[in-house]
Amino acid sequence: MSPAGGGRRLLVRDLAQLATPRGSDVPLRGKALGEVDVLEDAYVICDGDSIESVGRMRDLAPLAGDLVELDGRGLSAIPGLVDCHMHACFAGDRVEEFALRASGASYEELHSAGGGILSTVRATRAAGEDGLRAAVHRHRAWMLRSGTTTFESKSGYGLDRDTELASLRAILDAGGVPTWLGAHAVPPEFADADAYLDFALAEVLPEAAQLAEAADVFLERGAFDVGQARRLLEACREAGLALRLHGDQFTEQGAVALAIELGARSVDHLEATGDGGIRALAASDVVPVLLPASALFLERPMPRARDFVDAGAAVALATDFNPGSAFCESLPLVCSLACTQLHLAPEEALSACTVNAAHVLERGGSIGRLEPGYEADVVLLDASDWRYLAYHLGGDVVKAVIRKGEVVNER
Ligand code: NIG
Ligand code: FE
Repeated sequence: MSPAGGGRRLLVRDLAQLATPRGSDVPLRGKALGEVDVLEDAYVICDGDSIESVGRMRDLAPLAGDLVELDGRGLSAIPGLVDCHMHACFAGDRVEEFALRASGASYEELHSAGGGILSTVRATRAAGEDGLRAAVHRHRAWMLRSGTTTFESKSGYGLDRDTELASLRAILDAGGVPTWLGAHAVPPEFADADAYLDFALAEVLPEAAQLAEAADVFLERGAFDVGQARRLLEACREAGLALRLHGDQFTEQGAVALAIELGARSVDHLEATGDGGIRALAASDVVPVLLPASALFLERPMPRARDFVDAGAAVALATDFNPGSAFCESLPLVCSLACTQLHLAPEEALSACTVNAAHVLERGGSIGRLEPGYEADVVLLDASDWRYLAYHLGGDVVKAVIRKGEVVNER
């Protein structure tokens, strides 16, 4: 399976299947979300860091010049997966809390007792910028093994100026798309959320806005309320950042209406969203980002993905990778959950964690599809039917990953 040469053009030949979401008007919704083109006996050619062509082997014209070849027999190709919601910049772990939860403690109880997010804040502040850089690189290697070629990561475990900015730099250093989650929790040195926001907006936002592409807020009972979230997001929009929200994870607190009012790119979680929120999001341009690994890990109700899709919402799927509520970097596992728990078709799951996730990151025209001109990000699955992506529950389904035309992970 190793390439046989050293050129910048790469041909993956004799693939059992090549599957790619069809629609190019992203984000995809309704019927278009489930439309995936599948070519049998296929090839893909990468030229430098972009895709030159895809097609059937029988239509492959003789190729001149230097070309590296990969043998795709028995494999299927899908677009590199796009994880649009991660918290990959943290130090330490929460394995002790995980064990406590296994014997009955709740996530919210641990959080209000000073554990949870704040315990990761302590570890992250102590790690230093080199430590954070090493942590994100380590997590990045895990993601690549699972087929993630583009990742977003939030800050949010520093909650002081230096650690938040170091987190954003560490994410950029690992090639991630950084989001400033300045309002994740209220750190202990502040009396309340308003006092913390006074600090974060005055002292952190100006530089965070130079590093991050978007801002995010945890709008939830025990975190930030709707007024505080509005204050933060309006200031961030003013500073040029796109807007995202953690909303309706445990309770409905107005996140959906606020996301729509402010023209946010996405509102994420939505395990607690009712009919009204689903209808409102379906009628809007805000993408509901669903995170079933987090619902599974916390034993919470699953988000109502089928209802979102049937109502016409442009759903995306992501891992929510973080040490507390979703210690899981695998989008293939998320696709399995989407099909077994959320009642999505494999085709809908694929579109949700490729093109639609790319759209959340404002990269819908350049990643998430196997199409000429798109970035040459390709996952080769160890299966002759691409739907093993979701079918092989927790399986070792990723055979190789091509990122910008280079084979970066191969087993
Ligand atoms: O998206 N809900 C808020 N933030 C993260 C969890 C963070 C943590 O537990 O460390 C989430 O689930
Ligand atoms: Fe999250």
